[in-house]
Amino acid sequence: MRDIKAIIRDMTLEEKAGLCSGQDFWHLKAVERLGVPGVMVSDGPHGLRKQDLSKSSDHLGINDSISAVCFPSACGASASFDRELLTEVGALLGEECQAEDVSVLLGPAVNIKRSPLCGRNFEYYSEDPHVAGQLAAAVIKGVQSKNVGVSVKHYAANNQEYHRMNVSAEADERTLREIYLAAFETAVKEAKPWTVMCGYNKINGEYASEDHWLLTEVLRDEWGFDGCVVSDWGAVNDRVKGLAAGLDIEMPTSGGVTDALIVKAVRDGSLDESVLDTVVERILNLVFKYADNRIQAVFDRDAHHEAAVKAALECAVLLKNEDGALPLKTGSNVAFIGEFAKKPRFQGGGSSHINPSKIDNALDSTAGRAVITYAAGFPADKDEEIAGLIEEAVESAKGKDAAVIFAGLPDIFESEGYDREHMRLPLVQNKLIEAVAAVQPNTVVVLHNGSPVEIPWIGKVKAVLEMYLAGQGAGRAAADLLFGAANPSGKLAETFPLKLSDNPSFLYFPGDGKTAEYREGVFIGYRYYDKKEMDVLFPFGHGLSYTTFEYSNLRLSNANIKDTETLTVSVDVANTGGREGKETVQLYVSDHTNTAVRPLKELKGFAKLSLKPGEKKTAEFTLSKRAFAWYNEAISDWYCASGEYEILIGASSRDIRLSAKLNIESTQLIKMNVTQKTLMEDLLANPKTAGIIKGYIENQPLFSQGESDAASAVINSQMALRMMLEMPLCSIRMFGQISEERLNRLIDELNSQIDG
Ligand code: BGC
Repeated sequence: MRDIKAIIRDMTLEEKAGLCSGQDFWHLKAVERLGVPGVMVSDGPHGLRKQDLSKSSDHLGINDSISAVCFPSACGASASFDRELLTEVGALLGEECQAEDVSVLLGPAVNIKRSPLCGRNFEYYSEDPHVAGQLAAAVIKGVQSKNVGVSVKHYAANNQEYHRMNVSAEADERTLREIYLAAFETAVKEAKPWTVMCGYNKINGEYASEDHWLLTEVLRDEWGFDGCVVSDWGAVNDRVKGLAAGLDIEMPTSGGVTDALIVKAVRDGSLDESVLDTVVERILNLVFKYADNRIQAVFDRDAHHEAAVKAALECAVLLKNEDGALPLKTGSNVAFIGEFAKKPRFQGGGSSHINPSKIDNALDSTAGRAVITYAAGFPADKDEEIAGLIEEAVESAKGKDAAVIFAGLPDIFESEGYDREHMRLPLVQNKLIEAVAAVQPNTVVVLHNGSPVEIPWIGKVKAVLEMYLAGQGAGRAAADLLFGAANPSGKLAETFPLKLSDNPSFLYFPGDGKTAEYREGVFIGYRYYDKKEMDVLFPFGHGLSYTTFEYSNLRLSNANIKDTETLTVSVDVANTGGREGKETVQLYVSDHTNTAVRPLKELKGFAKLSLKPGEKKTAEFTLSKRAFAWYNEAISDWYCASGEYEILIGASSRDIRLSAKLNIESTQLIKMNVTQKTLMEDLLANPKTAGIIKGYIENQPLFSQGESDAASAVINSQMALRMMLEMPLCSIRMFGQISEERLNRLIDELNSQIDG
């Protein structure tokens, strides 16, 4: 064990301050005289982007990096809904880091997909925080199993690229807690990341890099984070304020400027040196955790490439498959159309851009399986019609058994650094697809994109296979899936709305550049579309297979629980088709207690099962209070009200197969001071006051008149109860049932019950 505290005692103030910012673009500073090495960090998240420091460095993916393996980006990885797969991929990334002497991989990125327009959506997992948190935790466990750290980013509410370095995300605390912080919370609590990267943006007016509430109160004090907070590259505003708020490492180098500010602050007494010492201790712990636990790892690019193909197979989502158009028959005559068949788009632009060791394309990977003709159809890098290409593609599709069009977004359409302008595919691609579908009844479209697109031709094609940006194995995976060598098993971790303006953030995204108002609150993605009963193109959780699954036998361990107890939910799933396949069983919770404005349902569990034909397996979920709770700002805590809840088990958010109800009894007493204005419903909801107040309500003249009274023709007892619930306590005086003095005595009695 190293004596970190002894090293700190030996450090000069300048050395300590120096450790709080980078040496250069990718290294922390060394303190050679004390044996502290200057370790390297690199992007991430879905591959290693290690830049050669003898050449130019940048954080925007401009300069080249070493050859590495590009695994599926988060948009595809999330569609796998496969924790084990992501842990395996994480471990391979960790091996690559060890082999290349990289101490921290800058990812995963767990920001929530608020709008389909965010330029970095391809790097993010989901519109749902449960999916994002669970999958991020899985990756982190994999990477860190190789003694390499991660940096969970971009903390927090960093959901757009427009003015990303100064925009303020304006959201209420409930929305932040339930949606935008939740995935970070899961990642921190379940996987103990070595570092968290704070975002560029402000939250409610405060830069994330100097937000004490965010970096210390929530992250460390509440969630128990014990690693380092690293700034996003250039995210520091006021370095000394940031240090005191909980920002440990500024990246990249500040050229010594901010180190000097820290020294000055300690000298003039505005920063307590003990704060700096705590930060330095955390940084040294990070450095030695890596340096003292090196693993001899090999970076076997070929083996990792095979793993990338395997991962890509799990990420593809079969969105539509009419008349069993897919899989295509071996030996059939098929037209492949679109440059993406030769040059798949498999990753996005910016800091996550990997220099791939190898790229498989669908055209070459199909060799020997079918008679293929190829036509380019359109340029892959822009929205431009090139004379003759559409006509040539249409001719090639005529009379064939099927046509497969490889469509998708050009690089320029989605990237780090700016947002998308619209949700459309290039117009030339839409035109080509319509033209081919007009002559070829078996038209199949393969999509390469990092975020949802509008699909105006959906009714005209037989099948759509969403490949997302599936890494360097995307092409071979597409060929295997198209010809049935593998069975698609991905599900959408986001909704495909019919059109952009349906999206709940549409009116406020991306804001005016100064603020981005999250006025849709917790109603993002399916939480909104479901509540509004809107049609969508493809719902959250949707994804088809070449086989079929039957759900049965939903069991709850108990239909009545306290909020301190856990609930076990089990459901059987059988493969009722003729092929081996995988199904992601989804568990949603619905709150029927009417205590807060909530979505109709929220995903709280998922399990991916692999099933042979005829095989049946049981998916099991354990739910605790948090799965049922909402964030109650009045008590600054998660709250699960007493009453009825429903468990919904689905193959997608809009394909609920089974459901079961349960009752939960809350043990959480909401502190309450009864006054004349306290509402009856609040008194009834509190077990300590409910009994007394029930008696008063039932004795109200509205109730006691009896059903035969003429008044009951106008107001029956049920109606009276509904009215009473929302009346203040003093209303019982209004009905002449109680004197002022007696009312005040009743208030004292209720308050003493609560305190007792
Ligand atoms: C990005 C981060 C990235 C960093 C280093 C920033 O611009 O937002 O995601 O890790 O650069 O390249």
